[in-house]
Amino acid sequence: MIYNNYYIKKNKDILFSAIQPTGSITIGHYLGIFKLWNILQKKYNCLYCIANLHSLSTFNKNYNINLNILDLVSLILASGINYNKCIIFLQSDIIEHLQLYWILNCYTYIGELNRMTQFKDKSKNKFNNNLSLLSYPVLMASDILLYDSKYVCVGYDQLQHLELVRNISKRFNKIYNCDFFIYPEIIISKNFSKIMSLININKKMSKSDLNKNNVIFLLDKIEVIKDKINNCVTDSDNPPKIVFDIKNKPGISNLLNILSGIKNVSISSLEEYFYKCNYKKFKEILSKELCSFIKLLQRKFLFYRNNENLIKNILLNGKKKIKYIAKRKIECINNILKFTFN
Ligand code: TRP
Repeated sequence: MIYNNYYIKKNKDILFSAIQPTGSITIGHYLGIFKLWNILQKKYNCLYCIANLHSLSTFNKNYNINLNILDLVSLILASGINYNKCIIFLQSDIIEHLQLYWILNCYTYIGELNRMTQFKDKSKNKFNNNLSLLSYPVLMASDILLYDSKYVCVGYDQLQHLELVRNISKRFNKIYNCDFFIYPEIIISKNFSKIMSLININKKMSKSDLNKNNVIFLLDKIEVIKDKINNCVTDSDNPPKIVFDIKNKPGISNLLNILSGIKNVSISSLEEYFYKCNYKKFKEILSKELCSFIKLLQRKFLFYRNNENLIKNILLNGKKKIKYIAKRKIECINNILKFTFN
């Protein structure tokens, strides 16, 4: 497809990524996703989607999702993502996602959806699971394929879904003997799964953790962050050693990862710097650095969050910039499927 539109630069490939506007954003999101989005926006035509339709699959009606969308976009911007360099948009603003979703459902087997580990986890022990939990990856396929996204940026937990997307794409092309859908390549955020919980050190840091002491939220109060770092797990080596060794020293390695990420310095230079330092001192420095990092981020966050009109405009502009791509793709598929009966 040729994009003769100002917003989609012809010499750059399209990259798609998305995040759900549910739960609170953690330092893991910042280090794993937002930092990478920041880098990618310079190289690709990046489409960053706020996946509110996906959130509906686990919706709780007491939850004010619009407030969360405002928070999330503000945090994305506060993390350095520049709405002039990429396109940020709301999934439900582009109705074509749902049009394509139905069509792709018709080329997806229930058996393959049943095998998704995330579906198995989410539907475990629950009665009345709704159908969207099962077909969730098909909506992801629509998100990606609607824009001919050459690259997709995800965390490890979404790899299985992405493989499915590629299979759906391949299957459709084979049936209709065409190359209508792209086989997206995956860009993995290596850091994404790297940030572990502060106390249950073998578990990935997760926004839905019931023990909030495991998690640093970007909007935590500074005092709370200090307490959390104070109480987090290091290890019991004596004499203490500040070295990166995931297997034998997961606690310290996790903290080194966090510090390295927020300061943009290598782990090895941190190891050198903290040579002969004890855990208490290390935690003090980490706490100080983390607090000043988060303070600055929160200041930027408040700037955007207090300017709702700006955020609404960013989303509206995002919609305007890509709507025509979505429309055209649907027109084309309507032709292939002979829906245009005239
Ligand atoms: N399911 C993804 C997550 O929870 C978010 C998402 C929705 C996504 N659609 C996508 C990611 C398309 C990549 C591509 O993390």
